[in-house]
Amino acid sequence: MTSSLQICLPADTDNYCVMGNPISHSKSPQIHKIFAEQTDQNLFYQAILVDPDCFSEALSEFQRLGGKGLNITVPFKGDACNAVDHLTARAKKAAAVNTIWFDKKGESHGDTTDATGLVNDLRANDIQLQDKNILILGAGGAVRGVLSGLLEQGVQSITIANRTHSRAEELVTNYGSDERLSASEFTDLKSGFFDIIINGTSASLYGELLPIDDTLAMNTCCYDMVYADADTCFVKWARENGARIALDGLGMLVHQAAASFYIWRDVSPQTSSVIEIIRSKS
Ligand code: ATR
Repeated sequence: MTSSLQICLPADTDNYCVMGNPISHSKSPQIHKIFAEQTDQNLFYQAILVDPDCFSEALSEFQRLGGKGLNITVPFKGDACNAVDHLTARAKKAAAVNTIWFDKKGESHGDTTDATGLVNDLRANDIQLQDKNILILGAGGAVRGVLSGLLEQGVQSITIANRTHSRAEELVTNYGSDERLSASEFTDLKSGFFDIIINGTSASLYGELLPIDDTLAMNTCCYDMVYADADTCFVKWARENGARIALDGLGMLVHQAAASFYIWRDVSPQTSSVIEIIRSKS
């Protein structure tokens, strides 16, 4: 296991990283390398494997060595939220941080760009959210991270269905007065009602299908927040059951990376070509 004390930053460049565990599968170094070349930015971005109990130590060490900014992935998004000095409003709402930077006083700031990543990828694929009825599958950290971003897009309704129903109810309760949100059992979902189905569970990571009716997919846009080199089982399920559009989460990953890059460098990289490059290398 890499300890934070083994972090090594090259000189004469601005250093960034993604910290997580596991991390070897991460496409973020590739994505940020392409962004940097594209926008002519002198920076180095590496993936750092951090011991489960060592996140705040690793963060401090990265800053001490002169690191400029970090992305945070599983399982440290909650730890990052607790470790930073300042949170943006959306990070506070999501109780998760995926982007950190340091100000001139050396204080750390945390934000989450996951919702921006999802919304921008949906938009890039001509999937409109305004006035739409959305079904979200799952009620874990990934869903919590994107919920307020989706609500801000003027959706008609969001139904959250989760294997453990009480977690879906809890998420809805946390949003208190927003009447557009409701929780449902998988078995109570009505076919023909939803325009967009977003899979925010981690089931695809294990190749598992959700116990939902096949007819739900018909004529919908289905989006799996998980990405994989081959079609995820949710994407396959959507295609086989008449979805109009079926997408995995690679675009969301690239768009959330672009939003982090903008926070750090004040430059917006071009995303569609990067999605194509990463897809072609899979
Ligand atoms: P993450 O940060 O990836 O969201 P998480 O907080 O552990 O991780 O949440 C995982 C989500 O995937 C949960 O909604 C989980 O359902 P439970 O709350 O019932 O555990 C869901 N999930 C994982 N595997 C699943 C499966 N095989 N079938 C249905 N839901 C699954």
